[in-house]
Amino acid sequence: MFTLVPAWSSQEGATRVRELFAAMFGTQPRGVWSAPGRVNLIGEHTDYNGGLCLPIALDHRCYVALTPREDTRVRLVSAQGDGAIWEGDLAEATAGSVEGWAAYVVGVAWALREAGHDVPGFDGAVDSCVPFGAGLSSSASIEAAFAVALDDVARLGLADDDAGRSALAAACVRAENEMAGAATGGMDQAASLRAREGYALALDCLDGSVHHEPFDPAGYELLVVDTRAPHALNDGQYASRRAACEAAAAVLEVATLREWLDSSADVETAVASALSRLSEDTTRRRVRHVLTEIDRTRAAFTAMQAGDWGTFGLLMDASHASLRDDYEVTVRELDLAVEAARAAGAIGARMTGGGFGGSAVALVPSGTTAAVATAVVGAFTAAGLREPVFLTSRAAGSAG
Ligand code: GLA
Repeated sequence: MFTLVPAWSSQEGATRVRELFAAMFGTQPRGVWSAPGRVNLIGEHTDYNGGLCLPIALDHRCYVALTPREDTRVRLVSAQGDGAIWEGDLAEATAGSVEGWAAYVVGVAWALREAGHDVPGFDGAVDSCVPFGAGLSSSASIEAAFAVALDDVARLGLADDDAGRSALAAACVRAENEMAGAATGGMDQAASLRAREGYALALDCLDGSVHHEPFDPAGYELLVVDTRAPHALNDGQYASRRAACEAAAAVLEVATLREWLDSSADVETAVASALSRLSEDTTRRRVRHVLTEIDRTRAAFTAMQAGDWGTFGLLMDASHASLRDDYEVTVRELDLAVEAARAAGAIGARMTGGGFGGSAVALVPSGTTAAVATAVVGAFTAAGLREPVFLTSRAAGSAG
C-alpha cells in the first residue's frame, strides 16, 4: 500500500482558485493561470556554478486567479496554510520587505517593476497541488504562475517567446533571492517557465540557453518519492554550499566552476588540478561534486538522446552518491528512499532538488511503480520513519 499524490486536472485547479477568489473578493477574477513544479532528473547544485541540469516539468501545478487593480495595492489569499491572507502596497515593497509565502508573489511583481515594467497592483488567489516543501519547486511554481498572470494583465508580452520567458524567470529568481531570502540558482524557475510538454529541459546555466530533448523513457516510468522529511532552502545550509563553491572559484581564478571544467582536458584532470590548489578538505569535496556532476549531466544527456536508459540510471546512482558523500546534502530518508527503490528494481535513483529533506526520483521498469512504491513504504516503516508519499508524472508543459 502506498499513497499517490494526484495532479489536479487544469479544470479542477481553475475551479478551485476561481471559487477561492470569488469567496474572498466577491467578484470573478480576470483570468486563471498556472505553472508546474519540476523534478530534476540529474544535474544537482550545478545551476549556481554555471553548470548543466536536466529537469522536467511536473503535471502538478500551482493555480492563480487574478484581477489587476487601478492602484498599487496587492491583496492575496492562499488556500494553503490556514487560508492565509496578505495585504500591502507594491509601491512600498523593497528587497526583503515581505515575509512568508507572500514574498514569492509580491517579489515577482516587485522584480518586474524593478526591471522597468509597468505592473499594477492586483487581487489574487492561489492554490496548488505541488507538494509544499518537498523539493519539487512549490515556490518557483507560485512565482512562475504569478509571473505569467502579471505578464498577461499588464500586456508585457514576455510569455510569448523563450527570450521573454527567460526574462520572467530572471524576475522570479530575484524574488526568490532578494525578497524571500533563498540564495537559489535558476533551475526551478527555468523549468517552470521554459519547459516543453514531452521534453526534458537541458539547461545550460553558463549562458542560460536551453535545449528541448524528447523525454520518452520507453520501458520505464518515473517515480517521485516525497520523503516528507522537512526541507527548507533559506536556513543557511544551501547558502553555505553556494558560498563554498564561489570561494573555490575565486581561488581557482574562474568566474564559475563550470569554466574550470571546460578549460581542462577532461573531468579527471579538472578535479585533480582543482584539488591540488584547494587545501581545505570540505571545499575539495564540494568542488569534486560540482565538477563531476556537470560531467555526469553531459553524459546523461547523451544517454537520453541515445535512449540508453541503463547508462542514464547508473549516472543517477552516481549523482546520488556524490550528493551524499561529497556535497553532504542528503538525509537518512533520502538515502533510504534511493536504496529501497533500487533494491526493488529501479534502474537508477537519486535525491532531486536542493536536498536536506525533500524528494527522490527513481527510474523504474514500466508496470512496477506500485511494487517499488510499496517496497519504499515498507523500508520506511521498518526504519520507524514517517510514511513517504509518491508522485508520477510525464514531462508536462510550462506556465501559461
Ligand atoms: C534548489 C534550488 C535550485 C538548485 C537545486 C539544486 O532546487 O532552487 O536552484 O540549486 O536546489 O540543484
